Amino acid sequence: MPEFEKVIVETDLLILGGGMAACGAAVEAAYWAKQQGLRVTLVDKAAVDRSGAVAMGLSAINQYVGLKDGANTVQDYVNYVRNDLMGVTREDLVANIARHVDSTVHLFEKWGLPIWKDAEGKYVHEGRWQLMINGESYKVIVAEAAKNALLGSGVGQIFERVFIVGPLMDGDRCAGAVGFSVRENKLYFFIAKATLDAMGGAVHVFKPRSSGEGMGRAWYPPWNSGSSAYFTMKAGAEMTCQEVRFIPVRFKDAYGPVGAWFLLFKSRATNAMGGNYMVERQAELENWLPYGKVKPVPANLRNYLGMLDVMEGKGPIYMRTEEAIQKIAEAYKDDPKEYKKKMKDLESEAWEDFLDMTVSQAILWAGTNLQPEERSSEIAAAEPYFIGSHSGASGAWVSGPEDLQNQQTKGEYFWGYCNMSTVKGLFCAGDASGASSHKFSSGSCTEGRIAAKEAIRFIVANNQLPHVDPKVLEAHAAEILAPLDFYEAHKNATTDPEVNPNYIKPRMFMFRLQKVMDEYAAGVTSQFTTNKSQLERALELLAYLKEDSLRLAASNTHELMRCWENIHRMWQAEAHVRTVLFREETRWPGYYFRSDKPKMDEEHWHVFANCRYDPGSGNWQMSTRPIYQLFA
Ligand code: FAD
Ligand code: ADX
Repeated sequence: MPEFEKVIVETDLLILGGGMAACGAAVEAAYWAKQQGLRVTLVDKAAVDRSGAVAMGLSAINQYVGLKDGANTVQDYVNYVRNDLMGVTREDLVANIARHVDSTVHLFEKWGLPIWKDAEGKYVHEGRWQLMINGESYKVIVAEAAKNALLGSGVGQIFERVFIVGPLMDGDRCAGAVGFSVRENKLYFFIAKATLDAMGGAVHVFKPRSSGEGMGRAWYPPWNSGSSAYFTMKAGAEMTCQEVRFIPVRFKDAYGPVGAWFLLFKSRATNAMGGNYMVERQAELENWLPYGKVKPVPANLRNYLGMLDVMEGKGPIYMRTEEAIQKIAEAYKDDPKEYKKKMKDLESEAWEDFLDMTVSQAILWAGTNLQPEERSSEIAAAEPYFIGSHSGASGAWVSGPEDLQNQQTKGEYFWGYCNMSTVKGLFCAGDASGASSHKFSSGSCTEGRIAAKEAIRFIVANNQLPHVDPKVLEAHAAEILAPLDFYEAHKNATTDPEVNPNYIKPRMFMFRLQKVMDEYAAGVTSQFTTNKSQLERALELLAYLKEDSLRLAASNTHELMRCWENIHRMWQAEAHVRTVLFREETRWPGYYFRSDKPKMDEEHWHVFANCRYDPGSGNWQMSTRPIYQLFA
């Protein structure tokens, strides 16, 4: 095996990830760090310009509260999120982001992001909280601001194409992170006074619907593989809402988002017989009160009503694009010239929605001769993802802001620094922090800013570099590189490097993980349904998989990254299965259904389900935490 150079980087604040939360953190941290004479280091596994969920661009900013024009209040947003998550949300965290998010959106505009405006110069809304953008270059624009802030001020440095494997610890304090370059033979040890985990959520934990030539295509970006959750779990942090996966309904096969169609174009979705499940299955909503009666209907219940149609054999479900476009254009039909122009504009908007955000969907339309103004498109529920910033909620259990607590919540929801996990010096934002859904791109960037400012405050009060024993660094180095060694030791046992009696390649390992999750933990194949026995079997199979993770083999550093990505996914899977098992009810039908506990149980389960891996003993602890309502 080639020699790996060991690089030690000492810094004050370490930002892990280069996505929306990390870029927001970089901008904010640079400002405060400069005043305090501190250094900031950002590390991304990819290139910040095009990394994370926003890599391809987006077509909307999904969180804008509009406080200045009096359009909405913070309380309105909290109510919306609470309802959408069937009552399970940390209102202090949601409110903290909601009260600051507009300022982040105004920064985006200042940095050059084109936000659609109407004839009066007002933002064009997709829905109540969503703004339309020309967002193909969204990530490049935000990355540029982050780079300017860190590099321009002289306080920062950026490492790209460095994959973070896990945490470094100094007793109970997070002391930084370990990782390796995916391009050079270099191992990195980042030692920091505070660390901000912002490495996104997880995809490909479950078997995707796409297979063969489409394999790898998913709604959530394939490069976010559960590193945030792995990092906090291995540091011993308490996690929350690990059962609250997100299943988005998407345009079938290329996973194009539906928001613009439902909200901007006001489209209906109908089944093969032309029936509208949102109307025909209204009565089902009575079984999920009080959330069944709120407006908008929670995302999981919208899914569920459509799934009931599919399970009854009434599929496919169609997005009625042609009907929606015709309906809007109808207002212009008395003037043929205006009508033609409107149709052209609507056609452009329809294509731009995907060209801005999910290019593959536009390609699929083109490749299948589909004109959205002429013909409907199939939509389907995707496989489950872990994305705490959208309509899921999984992530670390973090401290809220002090000023939003009351007597009841202070001891439960606040412990010194906002967005700090239960591990000293370890902060989380975006998909990495849990129970604060619906932050999306703008809210994640805002949360990154909040967390970075608090992390700098933590550093000022704890201004000494943690100590890490050189022997610990050596042990990490050996563990990280083990798959390379293992491959070298056994590669000659077979002629096909993919098949070997001694080792398992990361691709095969991922297939095994996905099969377990798909079949036993409520994936697509099992119609998103599971029960106690299946979950227990999943844990048994995951334990075997964990044993075999010591036999992962990598033939180069790229494959080494694949090995670690799948170890991260495996940990995310285990936390999920344990928590679905722990919560003895069905609260989010449409995300998952526990056939042995088919009803919602407000009396016993109107609580957060939390878990913690104890790095000392290797045991998991499950617990509940109270849900307090801070806003009426
Ligand atoms: P990300 O932005 O995904 O960033 C994660 C970062 O971590 C990346 O830089 C990644 O490279 C890095 N990383 C991961 N693992 C490692 C590792 N091991 N080591 C080092 N770095 C690592 N929001 C909207 O507001 N409007 C929309 O229209 C919209 N549409 C969306 C469409 C799609 C297809 C998707 C997937 C999401 C959409 N969202 C939208 C949601 C939005 O993109 C996310 O909420 C937001 O990006 C979350 O920010 P984050 O920083 O937590 O994660
Ligand atoms: S995206 O992140 O990939 O763009 P999506 O298109 O589902 O997600 O949603 C964009 C925004 O529209 C989100 O704020 C989502 O909650 C909202 N949304 C999508 N569909 C509906 C619907 N049928 N009713 C209300 N809100 C919706």
